[in-house]
Amino acid sequence: MMNIAVLISGSGSNLQTLIDACERKEIDAKIVSVYSNKKNVYGLNRAEKHGIKTYHLEDLESLCDTNYDLIVLAGFLKILPKNVVEKYEHKIINIHPSLIPSFCGKGYYGMKVHQAVIDYGVKVTGCTTHFVSEGADEGPIIMQKWLQVEDDDAQSIQKKVLELEHQCLVESVKAFVEGRIEVKDRKVSIHE
Ligand code: GRF
Repeated sequence: MMNIAVLISGSGSNLQTLIDACERKEIDAKIVSVYSNKKNVYGLNRAEKHGIKTYHLEDLESLCDTNYDLIVLAGFLKILPKNVVEKYEHKIINIHPSLIPSFCGKGYYGMKVHQAVIDYGVKVTGCTTHFVSEGADEGPIIMQKWLQVEDDDAQSIQKKVLELEHQCLVESVKAFVEGRIEVKDRKVSIHE
């Protein structure tokens, strides 16, 4: 069974969705570690309630001494060091709350993303899972889910996108765990 580590920086609703999917065996894997670069965030409580070991992640390089089958960045707001990304090439999945390459990269996180979507006046938005490469939100795209922007503000669109994120992340991690993801250069294929 694959061992997964999840990195968070906040409330951990994406983490919770993965915990629940593993516990109901929708994903045949075990979340063995949760790391947060911030202390006292609710995501750590979520992990502890499910008996998952938690760590305060201060030295990002320390991830080079680990051997997880998959690392998931679920609302993790730091950029991983080059040697960690190289060690875990195509084995780190990030979830971002926009349709990359729009509204992503430096400074685009959390509500800032959704406010930019509203301010720009785009007609569709959504979320993206991708493999993590050296830069922020630049790696090969695994899956995207979209929705129409209606009479929304940043708060209402954030709630709708977060629901899509949960679905997108579970489907992406499940495909990875089941060995159904193939990467050729930047092109990712998910086999049924
Ligand atoms: C999510 O919108 C995620 O895409 C973004 O930060 C938020 C984290 O939410 N990176 P949560 O901590 O998983 O509830």
